[in-house]
Amino acid sequence: MQKTILINSIRIRIIKFTTNMSTIFRVATNSDLPEMQKLYFETIQEVCKNDYNKEQIQVWSSGVENTERWLDVINTQFVLLAQIENQITGFGTLKDGNYIDLFYVHKDFQRQGIADKILDKLEIEAAKYHSQVITADISITAKPFFEKKGFIVKAEQRNIRLNVELINYKMEKKLF
Ligand SMILES: CC(C)(COP(=O)(O)OP(=O)(O)OC[C@H]1O[C@@H](n2cnc3c(N)ncnc32)[C@H](O)[C@@H]1OP(=O)(O)O)[C@@H](O)C(=O)NCCC(=O)NCCS
Repeated sequence: MQKTILINSIRIRIIKFTTNMSTIFRVATNSDLPEMQKLYFETIQEVCKNDYNKEQIQVWSSGVENTERWLDVINTQFVLLAQIENQITGFGTLKDGNYIDLFYVHKDFQRQGIADKILDKLEIEAAKYHSQVITADISITAKPFFEKKGFIVKAEQRNIRLNVELINYKMEKKLF
C-alpha cells in the first residue's frame, strides 16, 4: 500500500508493506485435533461469554475433554479448516451431508469473513449429497450469523447438560 502525506511542504511517501496472509481451506486430519480443541475451548470462553453465564460456559467448553467425540467427528464427518500461515483460524463440520455439527472461528479472527467462507464450502459439500435441507443446533452467539446466511429458527431448545441448562436453536436452510 502506498500513501503520500505533506509535512512542512515536504512530500513524504509512506510505503506500507503488508504480508500476504491468505486463507487456505483444507480437510482436517487427526493431527489437527489438539489445535482445533484449543480453538473450540478459547472461542467458547471468550466469544460466547456475553450470551451464556459462567456455569454454562464451563459446561459447554468442557466438551473439549470428550476425546471419543472429537475422534468420531474427525473420522466420520466432513471437517473443513480455515488456516492462515500454519494457524487454524476456524473450522466447520458436516455430518451425513446435511447437518452442521461443530462450527467455530478463532477468538482473534472474528468478523473477518472466515465463517462466511467455511459455511459456503459446507453448503457446496451438502449439495454433493443432493441434500435439500441443511440443519444445525445453533448457539445464541452464532444465531445472527446463521440468520444472515439464510437459516431460519425452527425451535428454541433448552438442553440440560451436567445439570446446567443451555439454550440453543434448531435452525435450517433450504438448499434448493
Ligand atoms: C458465529 C461465528 C462462527 C461467526 O464467525 P465470523 O468469522 O466472525 O463471521 P463472519 O465474519 O463470516 O460474519 C459474516 C457476517 O455474519 C454476520 N455476523 C457474524 N457474527 C455476528 C454477530 N455476532 N452479530 C451479528 N451479526 C453477525 C455479519 O453480518 C457478518 O458480516 P460483517 O462482519 O460484515 O457485518 C463466530 O462468532 C463464533 O465462532 N462464535 C462462537 C462459536 C459458536 O457459537 N459456534 C456455534 C456453535 S453452535
